Amino acid sequence: MTFSFFDAMPPVIGHRGACGHAPENTIASFQKAIKFGVRAIEIDVMVSKDNQPVICHDTSVTRCTDGNGPVLLKTLDEIRALDAGSWFSETYKGQQIPTLAEALDFSKINNLLVNLEIKPTHGWQVPTAEKVCADLPALLSDNQQILISSFNEDCLAVASKLLPNHPIGFLTDILPPDWLRRLKAVNAASFHCHHTFATAENIKAVKSEGYKYLVYTVNDPDDAKRLLDWGVDAVITDYPDRMLPLI
Ligand code: G3P
Ligand code: MG
Repeated sequence: MTFSFFDAMPPVIGHRGACGHAPENTIASFQKAIKFGVRAIEIDVMVSKDNQPVICHDTSVTRCTDGNGPVLLKTLDEIRALDAGSWFSETYKGQQIPTLAEALDFSKINNLLVNLEIKPTHGWQVPTAEKVCADLPALLSDNQQILISSFNEDCLAVASKLLPNHPIGFLTDILPPDWLRRLKAVNAASFHCHHTFATAENIKAVKSEGYKYLVYTVNDPDDAKRLLDWGVDAVITDYPDRMLPLI
């Protein structure tokens, strides 16, 4: 299956918005990405205690808010009451953890492509993926595709089954020996790995099987240039401002 998402996908994707410059996975971070000219962002999603999808990287709120404890043990109201900006800088005091709906509304209004990474608490992989995938159709515009990725293959299997019209990204650190079988098993359209494990040879191998190849988290423009020269389709970066001059 071919996906229009990849026709529009730019070679630079802002990681958690532009998280080198603003508190990750907040609307302020997405706004910063847009200010730099970014056309696609990667964001992380998990669910709250009351099963509401929220945009957050860590399974705990401790690092990136003024609260503490697992996201999965807090209601949406409790999560929304947290300050998700001050830990980064006082400038961002009052930023909230966005809901999935809020993040996708922002993406639609601003014509941003989204790579949504499903980031479940271990043991809550399937319930997380099922809820996110159940909510997505009502949150997206007609014909809007998003790239759904995860390190967890159970999550990808759920996404592939429930949302076959959206591309699936197989997320890993390193290319596993049995990568082709595993990409096929979850109907992946793209392969995403840590940039230190990308080689000219494995990029060629993966792409020759028809998969897009994305790398994270590339913050050095020299690395980005080399990887793009080797044929990666996109670099995911905390500092899109450093990478956009390359393209
Ligand atoms: O999706 C790319 C990258 O975000 C994966 O790692 O831990 O930053 O979510 P992480
Ligand atoms: Mg991520």
